[in-house]
Amino acid sequence: MAKTVVALIGSKRKKNTYSLVTQIASVLKQHDIDTDLVFLYDNEIKDCVGCQACILGKRCALTDDAPSIREKLSKADGIILASPVYMCSISGRMKTFIDRTAD
Ligand SMILES: Cc1cc2nc3c(=O)[nH]c(=O)nc-3n(C[C@H](O)[C@H](O)[C@H](O)COP(=O)(O)O)c2cc1C
Repeated sequence: MAKTVVALIGSKRKKNTYSLVTQIASVLKQHDIDTDLVFLYDNEIKDCVGCQACILGKRCALTDDAPSIREKLSKADGIILASPVYMCSISGRMKTFIDRTAD
């Protein structure tokens, strides 16, 4: 069975970051590896509210698309985090998603 890499794209635009990821995906395809593109801005990802439930072993109370994206990541054979550089860091949406993976 072909392996699958999940690529999280943290740009609102389908420009440079998207272009790089599609180039990586085409190289992976040559090795029989599929790439599942997840456009973080096309998903609802709420801000962490800092309740610490996840850190204390409880379920996150927020309901949005973050859990299903995390589920994809947990099943993936590989993960790509692709973000434009914004003020010497990752994009806000990428950070918001990463904050939601604390448990
Ligand atoms: C608000 C903002 C801040 C940025 N900050 C940086 C930066 O600190 N360093 C850098 O090299 N590029 C910076 N850039 C440029 C982007 O990272 C660059 O144009 C990137 O390729 C855009 O990706 P995209 O086409 O996928 O949106 C910034 C762009 C924007 C809009």
